[in-house]
This record gives sequence, C-alpha cells and structure tokens, in this order.
Amino acid sequence: MLHSDFSLLQYNTFGIDEQAKFFFSFSDKQELAAFLKNEFRKDLPYFVLGGGSNILLTKPFEGTVIHPENKGISITEERSNDVFVAVAAGEVWDDFVQWAVSNNLHGVENLSYIPGCVGASPVQNIGAYGSEAKDAIYRVVCMAVEDQQERVFSNEECRFGYRDSVFKHEEAGKYIVTEVVFKLQKNAPFNLGYGSLRNSIDESTATLQIVRDTIIAIRKEKLPDPKEIGSAGSFFKNPVVPTEQAEQLKQSFPDMVTYPAPDGKTKIAAGWLIDSLGLKGFRIGGAQVHPKQALVLTNTGGATATDVTNLASHVRTKVSDTYGLTIEPEVIYL
Ligand code: EPU
Repeated sequence: MLHSDFSLLQYNTFGIDEQAKFFFSFSDKQELAAFLKNEFRKDLPYFVLGGGSNILLTKPFEGTVIHPENKGISITEERSNDVFVAVAAGEVWDDFVQWAVSNNLHGVENLSYIPGCVGASPVQNIGAYGSEAKDAIYRVVCMAVEDQQERVFSNEECRFGYRDSVFKHEEAGKYIVTEVVFKLQKNAPFNLGYGSLRNSIDESTATLQIVRDTIIAIRKEKLPDPKEIGSAGSFFKNPVVPTEQAEQLKQSFPDMVTYPAPDGKTKIAAGWLIDSLGLKGFRIGGAQVHPKQALVLTNTGGATATDVTNLASHVRTKVSDTYGLTIEPEVIYL
C-alpha cells in the first residue's frame, strides 16, 4: 500500500515526528516486486524501515520508506536436533522469540524483548545477553531492488560482526530482506554466562520460558519501554580496541568494564565510560542520557532530532576527551 506525505511518528521508537514523501508497506513478495518495478519509484531514494527501533529521523525523507508487513512463521525442515524455521521479515521480532519458546526451540531466547522486526535482525546482527542473531540465522532471503530477483545469503555470506553485516557495507541498499531462516535446536544448553543472567537463574531448573521471563524482567528494569519513553535502545556501540590499548586504559582506570572480543581485541562497555563521567540523567532540551543505562539516550517528551544529536555529540566529546576513545552511534541517522 502506498501513502504520500506520511508522518513517521508511529514508526520510530524515538518518537520523532518527521514525514516521508512516500511510504510503502508490502504484505507479500509479489506486492514488493510490483512496486520496485515501478518507474516513478526508481527516480527516488528509498529506505527500508522495520520497527524503527534503531533510527533517528533528523529531517523529512524526500523519498520512499519501504516497510515490510509480510507475516508467517513456519517450520520448513527438521534434521535430528535441528529445526529450520522460515520467518517473514515483517514479523515482530519478539513474537517470533515467544513462538520459539512456546514450541520448545532453543536459539533465540536470550534475544527476548528486543524491539523491531525480523527483517532487521540480520542487517545489524542484533545481540544481547551473550547471544547474537548470527548464532541462529541459517540464511537470509532477499529481493534485489534492481531486478526483483531472489537472492539467498548463507550465514557465511552475511559476514556477520558485532552489530554488523554485509548489508551495512558492500550490499547496502541493494537488497530488501523478505524472509529469514533460522536454525533452532530441540535440545541445547542454556547460555547463561552473561553476568546479570548468571546471578538470576538456577541452571538446574531453567526452562526456555524462565530464561525469557528473566531477560524481559532485566530489560524492563534497565531499558526504557519504547511505549512509555522514546528511545532507540543502545545509542552507541561498545568500542572494540586492540587489547594492548584496553590494558593501558585499565592501568589508569582499573574499574573499566571490558570483555574479550574476536581477533585479539577487547570490547569496552561504553555504558560504563559514559556513566563514569557522571552523565547519567544529563539533558539537552528534551533529550536525556537514561538515568538507569548510560548507553541509552531518551526522548523525555518533545525532543527534536537536534536535541538528540547535540546530546550524542556532547557524550562522544566527553568520552574522547577523557579516554581517547571514539564511540560510534549504533543508531542510524536518517
Ligand atoms: N554499565 C555501567 N553504567 C551504565 C551502563 C552500563 O557501569 O550506565 C556497565 C554495566 O554495569 C556492565 C557493562 O557496563 O558491567 C555493560 O552493561 P550492560 O550489561 O547493560 O550492556 P551494554 O554493553 O551496555 C549491550 C547491548 C544491549 C544489550 C545488553 C545486554 C550494545 C550496543 N548494547 O549493552 O543492546 O541489551 O548488552 O546484553 O551492544 C541495543 O543494542 O539496543 C541494546 C539494548
């Protein structure tokens, strides 16, 4: 369905009121293909918007916002312990997680209550509590914008990294994710290594539903509920630096929170960096550093995108001045 001069207020969790020149939602692949073939569409820029939980709208968008609304979750194959599940891009991510937990399938329970839609999960390889979408994604089915052909990316071809994939680099803007196939397990150990989970769950009595409920409770405690307070979750990525640099920093700042990362690198908790500078609760206009989780910037009501970008710049400058580290936004500025 195509709309013009469309307010995106209901389509971004930050709650910023900007317009798109056109807004197109599709319920199936045929509808998407027909739209992409259209000559008028080809002259305009476009942007794929899922749940709008990781974007900051900074100006009106003079093109077409494409929004997946296709639905469907189905088991396509079972191979001993593995169950392959095809999920339409327009499914709400957390509805899929609940479906998996209800069907006793392991693999995405630690990613409970992450806002957004399934189609976005491979693009930025969503992650939380020691799990990432890449651990469960088997393949990603896309439609090429140019010729509307189907293209399937295997897990390896997606070249997943921390909040990263090929869809943010070489393939950016060329494909629209229509379906994601996950490989889940009937039986698997729980992944309870992450600090706050380890202390809250007794592994011997854990069930998928207990893990899910515990994660939802932890997230509700720390992260603002987008239904009540506008935000895009973590605003910044945790910086990943050479381990020597992290070790040097730790000599000056022994409390700094760090985690081992692949390729001999170390991830530093940006929330800790920001918190250590006393910035929790700091405001510019209607934008605020969340008082319970410093990595999250919120809209306390009526924030403009400028308030948010000014606050983000202030936080980045302070972190850079004290620690010599650059923290990059996880949120995409549109
Ligand atoms: N910390 C502080 N002060 C703060 C925030 C954090 O000292 O204000 C410390 C914590 O005590 C902890 C460490 O920093 O030792 C890490 O904090 P937390 O466990 O809350 O996780 P995070 O690194 O801040 C990441 C993800 C979240 C995800 C959580 C839980 C990114 C950018 N963020 O946050 O994802 O929910 O881990 O796994 O990687 C999101 O991407 O939108 C998001 C919410």
